[in-house]
Amino acid sequence: MSNQAEGCDESDYVSLSAHLKEQAIDSDLARLIQLVADKSKVVQRAFVTHACLSDTDNIYGEKQMELDKYADQVFLDAMEKSALVKAFASEEQDDVLGIRKAKGEFGVTIDPLDGSSLIEANLAVGTIIGFFNEGNVMEKGKLMDASLIVLYGPITSLVYTAKKGVHMFVLNNKGEFELRKENIKIPTGKTYAMGGLRKDWTPQHTAFVENLEKEGYKNRFSGSFSADLQQILVNGGVFSYPALVNKPTGKLRLVFEGNPIALLAKQAGGLGTDGIRDLHEIEPEGLNHRVPIYVGGKKEIELAGKFLR
Ligand code: F6P
Ligand code: MN
Repeated sequence: MSNQAEGCDESDYVSLSAHLKEQAIDSDLARLIQLVADKSKVVQRAFVTHACLSDTDNIYGEKQMELDKYADQVFLDAMEKSALVKAFASEEQDDVLGIRKAKGEFGVTIDPLDGSSLIEANLAVGTIIGFFNEGNVMEKGKLMDASLIVLYGPITSLVYTAKKGVHMFVLNNKGEFELRKENIKIPTGKTYAMGGLRKDWTPQHTAFVENLEKEGYKNRFSGSFSADLQQILVNGGVFSYPALVNKPTGKLRLVFEGNPIALLAKQAGGLGTDGIRDLHEIEPEGLNHRVPIYVGGKKEIELAGKFLR
């Protein structure tokens, strides 16, 4: 009798490339998703070799790790070489990069290493990517065609949506991404993850959190948006980086973080809002456009809306 936990049999599995074919994902988009998966293995290996602080700040004044820059370069090179990507917007770059020689029309947004300040403590960090079939990365999120998170944690996983459900893969011992969970739906669950200092929250947000706590929700905030969102996809609940009293737009960025992650949450039956508005209906005003973020189960996000309206 097999003693193996469900989903741990490595003898027979569906690979990411097979899954993309099975789902009939547009072949160019499938190629880009596969490229990101391949390059994420390069980034994953660099955690040991590149994990030292660099002496530069990114354009938002945050300290860049060597790894931030390295990951950015690895993904940019891959997108350039694919010849499918016309516009590349990275949290680590000052501006949208136009790729002149591209034959394809894709636009890509990327947060190359979300939560990178956690690397030294060996906590999970992630790569967050959004894809637009037509080059303009500054569109409303509702026009985004696919998004994914690669999470570098105890295991490396990749969760993608191409608007045909949300699917999770894990990097197996053969160096391949194998299907772990298909058609993920955010389950009922009592987890909350809230960024910012409690003393800086607005009274409305505080009231929402107190209501969750009264209902028995547990605080599980890791400091990495990508990891916290994956937690919600698996366990249910709500993530928020809210408006703060002295920072009404919060911390997270619509283009790089809010929109791609809201697409995953929505495809998994949940919602992504700024507390009131669907994130995907907000016109980005620039790469640095920040928004309060509420993402997770429908029930929780609707409840947040009642407190914040
Ligand atoms: O990208 C910014 C980020 O690292 C997110 O991953 C995370 O949710 C947030 O910052 C945490 O911010 P704070 O340290 O203010 O809680
Ligand atoms: Mn980030």
